[in-house]
Amino acid sequence: MITEELRLRTLARYERHREAWGANEALRILYAEWYGRIAKQLPDPALGPFIEIGSGPGLARSFIPGLKLTDIVLASWHDGEASADRLPVADASLGALVLFDVLHHLSSPASFFDEAARALADGGRIVMCEPYVSPVSFPAYKWFHPESLVLGVDPLADQVEDPSGKDPFDGNQAIPMLTFGRKVGLARFAKRFPTLVVRSVERFAGLAHPASGGFGRSPFLPMALWRLLYAAERRLPSWVYRLIGFRMLIVIENRKH
Ligand SMILES: C[S@@+](CC[C@H](N)C(=O)[O-])C[C@H]1O[C@@H](n2cnc3c(N)ncnc32)[C@H](O)[C@@H]1O
Repeated sequence: MITEELRLRTLARYERHREAWGANEALRILYAEWYGRIAKQLPDPALGPFIEIGSGPGLARSFIPGLKLTDIVLASWHDGEASADRLPVADASLGALVLFDVLHHLSSPASFFDEAARALADGGRIVMCEPYVSPVSFPAYKWFHPESLVLGVDPLADQVEDPSGKDPFDGNQAIPMLTFGRKVGLARFAKRFPTLVVRSVERFAGLAHPASGGFGRSPFLPMALWRLLYAAERRLPSWVYRLIGFRMLIVIENRKH
């Protein structure tokens, strides 16, 4: 249960993100690419509805038609209220769960994966776009981003003692990399969630990402230069992003049989 103070603070954040989105062309270009990557990984719509968890400002609406937007803090543009660990749906009823910058904000990532294994149909997918901690992104995320980054945690343990007092925007940007960016994390995940099979983990997004200014600032480069940087980085081979990547896309399939 979210307190009234946290609810109002979260709604104000959504509004700030919507304004930044409208004002920042570089951000819109990046998100169009990243939601495009998510859309390509969605399964056959006949499997069941696609639900986004933690939709916040609702940016997905323009990129994935038919996606149902939800969040733990309801806004007028959402289709419903839902907490990642308590989805208001029947067992094996969903085709896909989409999360964009949400896993690393959850007070209990493991409870979310248990709930996803229950709610997804056989062949249903979790598709997540999350921060990736690489040698280049580490200093940017650690010292120049308002969210915390703590490497020495167990990503499958509860992340806070009292979830009711947690700001929904608080998080640990290392959680996705600790879970899916290393062999040891992947092996632990496979053992803990036997029906959830990790299909792919892609790393992408170089310096054009921080150079966009994100939701807090204007782009650090004139748009013409930013476009050049973005175009140049998109030509790099995928292995380079293990070193310079700021983002990862994780695709997981629920295989019940
Ligand atoms: C960084 S925002 C990302 C918002 C949006 N996906 C985007 O990329 O613009 C994280 C979102 O996760 C939501 N959230 C945090 N904990 C949640 C939970 N347990 N269940 C559902 N949503 C949650 C927050 O309210 C917030 O909207």
